[in-house]
Amino acid sequence: MVLDTVLTIIFVNYQTSNEVKGACMQTMAIIGAQWGDEGKGKLTDLLAEKCDLVVRYQGGHNAGHTIWVNGQKTVLHVIPSGVLHPHCLSVIGHGVVLEPENFLTELARIKQVTKVSPDNLKISSTATVITSYHKLLDAAREAQGSEKIGTTGKGIGPAYEAKVSRRAIKVKDLLDKDTLVRRLSNGYAEKAIIFKHLYQIDFPTIEQEVERLYRFGETLKDYVTDSFGLIDQKLSQGKRVLYEGAQGILLDIDYGTYPYVTSSSTAASGIFTGAGIPHHKLEEVIGVAKAYTTRVGEGPFPTELHDEMGTLIQQKGNEIGATTGRKRRCGWIDIPLLRYAVKCSQLSSIALTKLDILCGLSELKVCYAYEVNGKTVDCAYPGINLYNAKPLFKDFKPFNDDFTGKPSQELQNYINFIQEAVGIPVGIYAYGPDRNQIVFRKDYF
Ligand code: GDP
Ligand code: IMO
Ligand code: MG
Repeated sequence: MVLDTVLTIIFVNYQTSNEVKGACMQTMAIIGAQWGDEGKGKLTDLLAEKCDLVVRYQGGHNAGHTIWVNGQKTVLHVIPSGVLHPHCLSVIGHGVVLEPENFLTELARIKQVTKVSPDNLKISSTATVITSYHKLLDAAREAQGSEKIGTTGKGIGPAYEAKVSRRAIKVKDLLDKDTLVRRLSNGYAEKAIIFKHLYQIDFPTIEQEVERLYRFGETLKDYVTDSFGLIDQKLSQGKRVLYEGAQGILLDIDYGTYPYVTSSSTAASGIFTGAGIPHHKLEEVIGVAKAYTTRVGEGPFPTELHDEMGTLIQQKGNEIGATTGRKRRCGWIDIPLLRYAVKCSQLSSIALTKLDILCGLSELKVCYAYEVNGKTVDCAYPGINLYNAKPLFKDFKPFNDDFTGKPSQELQNYINFIQEAVGIPVGIYAYGPDRNQIVFRKDYF
């Protein structure tokens, strides 16, 4: 009798989920298709209006996602960019690395502009915690290492290292002092030697760090949940879920321009491990790309402009990092890299941003292929040494649209060339930072 009842409930639940699945698009992702800062925050905020959940699945507060609504700027680091829509549940998934102090500061700031509470913001109990040690290690390595990555200095790499080496502290551990002491003690002796003898820097004792983290745990405990179970339940109820990527595919730990990458899976594969959604449930993957290319930190950049045009785009585009305040390096759009990004994440459409920044420039170029050792290469496969790739450019007639009416022929030519070259539609394009400065060429809902 009891078993029968259980089976009936399970059967009904699955029926519901199957019925809903075919009805309309239920799951989509927004992923950076370049080296980050493509405008993911703006896109996520916009699409979140029609979604029930927005889920961050990787990265941490190294991200800086900017949203402009009616002249008001909001920058989000680890809180999902759907948070300005209080009806939308924001979820920080288990693949994220969370620095509790920074999270609480961000939360307090965001509470001043929108309604946020444990009812509409959740943190995975198994997200990895960034400790003081991780932050100190990140900074020390960047200061003294021979191969500087140009990290954001937030402790991201060391926190993911701790996770992979099975020594990390999980969010749920913040809620229990004994567990915190036990977990922090694991590997402490090794860290103490590194801090004292290798880097000669002061570092907190276990007791100090336990007190600090436990205090934060007490403050954020109402937000903590089993995010896997929550997402699973919402999916089976037919709720619409948007996965928000941080960084970009070219910064992915496996697909990116290693070692000049971040330490997480920024590509679509990160959604499956970092949020727990099955592969077949991801229906649309939107790759966000700037109409040109930017990069912060070190690493190869074939189309980088070292001349006045590079400076002009940097200044006109206000290309300054939202997290670190560093100037972003700028260059023309790079099709071989975008083609590669499409393959890495099975992107289904492109959102092309910042077209307004290219308006009225004296010249306009698209890198359609590279010349590498005398051969033409049209996709930036990882086997290609990007330092050795000479970009081949196609010139375009510059456009000068004000984006109020029909796009000019020049603008259409530029967008259509990119669309054809990457092989998936440019479904959206953006021409300003505000939520409404956007054009849909494809129906997403
Ligand atoms: P994210 O990390 O991908 O969310 O992007 P960031 O917020 O770091 O950087 C994108 C910057 O471009 C932000 O300052 C946005 O406000 C701005 N932005 C986004 N789309 C557009 C656009 O179409 N035109 C202009 N001018 N700015 C844009
Ligand atoms: P959003 O989400 C641009 C870059 C850093 C550095 C490398 C490694 O705003 O697009 P890390 O601190 O992650 O170990 O740094 O990755 N980086 C970003 N660049 N946008 C970001 O995030 C970035 N997050 C990290 O500059 O080169
Ligand atoms: Mg950013």
